[in-house]
Amino acid sequence: MSMQRVVFATFFFSLASMVSSAQLVTYVFGDSLTDVGNNNFLQYSLAKSNYPWYGIDYSGGQATGRFTNGRTIGDIISAKLGIPSPPAYLSVSQNSDALLKGINYASGGAGILNDTGLYFIQRLSFDDQINYFKKTKEAIRTKIGDEAANRHCNEAIYFIGMGSNDYVNNFLQPFLADGQQYTPEEFVDLLISTLDQQLTRLYQLGARKMVFHGLGPLGCIPSQRVKSKKGQCLKQVNKWVMQFNSNVQILINTLNHRLPNADLTFADTYPLVLELIENPTAYGFKVSNTSCCNVDTSIGGLCLPNSKLCSNRHDYVFWDAFHPSDAANVILADKFFSSLFSSAPSPAPEPSL
Ligand SMILES: *[C@@H]1O[C@H](CO)[C@@H](O)[C@H](O)[C@H]1NC(C)=O
Ligand SMILES: *[C@@H]1O[C@H](CO)[C@@H](O)[C@H](O)[C@H]1NC(C)=O
Repeated sequence: MSMQRVVFATFFFSLASMVSSAQLVTYVFGDSLTDVGNNNFLQYSLAKSNYPWYGIDYSGGQATGRFTNGRTIGDIISAKLGIPSPPAYLSVSQNSDALLKGINYASGGAGILNDTGLYFIQRLSFDDQINYFKKTKEAIRTKIGDEAANRHCNEAIYFIGMGSNDYVNNFLQPFLADGQQYTPEEFVDLLISTLDQQLTRLYQLGARKMVFHGLGPLGCIPSQRVKSKKGQCLKQVNKWVMQFNSNVQILINTLNHRLPNADLTFADTYPLVLELIENPTAYGFKVSNTSCCNVDTSIGGLCLPNSKLCSNRHDYVFWDAFHPSDAANVILADKFFSSLFSSAPSPAPEPSL
């Protein structure tokens, strides 16, 4: 734990100096926690949030394709870095200069595995997202030439958050094959070996500075709690998630050794999110065991136009059965940043393992 904090702090310390010198470019890969509208362009996708009450607290009050009432953590972090939140890949034309300023490939329902989120019909899996990044790089090369394109890709920051759906919308669904076919240990091994290939491929495309966001305590999200007798967290699910997180950290250490100049970091969101869920009142929340939007988890758990909302959206950690509220995202993005900067200058870094 302290090791990650140190690694993370060092990373962002250099990030802070970059922000002031050159303009910072970020490429974002992920699922519904970071989607800013890609799924709006997938005609047959069932993983959509382009209707009320999504976006009710976003600037303008309209749904954008974000799976929350307001901003994603990514939006808030971009604002803190002083850059616009990168646009959805599918909203940007192939010859636009916007490709050079950062792109968001995240897609609701996506996972590390291709078959994750199968029943959403359409979503951009992590492999699809990497393929689109490859296209982006080709377009950039056409614009600025080989050498400058390589430098551009080497200098950008890559934020990656993947894996929640591989559990929630794959392994934990009794009617899908993966839950039947694999033991939890085999399944996490499959995820990690697939992720190894995917991160290596991103590296081969020029990515050097990559931040991988670990999974939160999925056993405590409303869609999982309803499966318990008294609405408690599912301990077994949290154990699997922690196993995944710990194996990702080992993978990241391995990749940092195997790939020259690779600078991968693990961002441990699990303890931050769990803290918010266990002590909501310490952060100004009243409820963390159910969502503001009164969702029906038997028909998907998203907030539908006919759903009833809570009277004060700031009181709830969760917006729907899966996603934190705008208010929770603000706290999480803040905690993220202050933990980085407060640990950076003072104590001497502990030796990493
Ligand atoms: C997953 O899909 C991607 C992109 O469509 C493809 O390149 C890859 O080979 C597929 N992986 C597997 C294991 O089927
Ligand atoms: C949430 O917690 C409160 C207070 O601890 C409890 O009264 C309520 O029944 C719980 N709600 C759910 C959905 O578990």
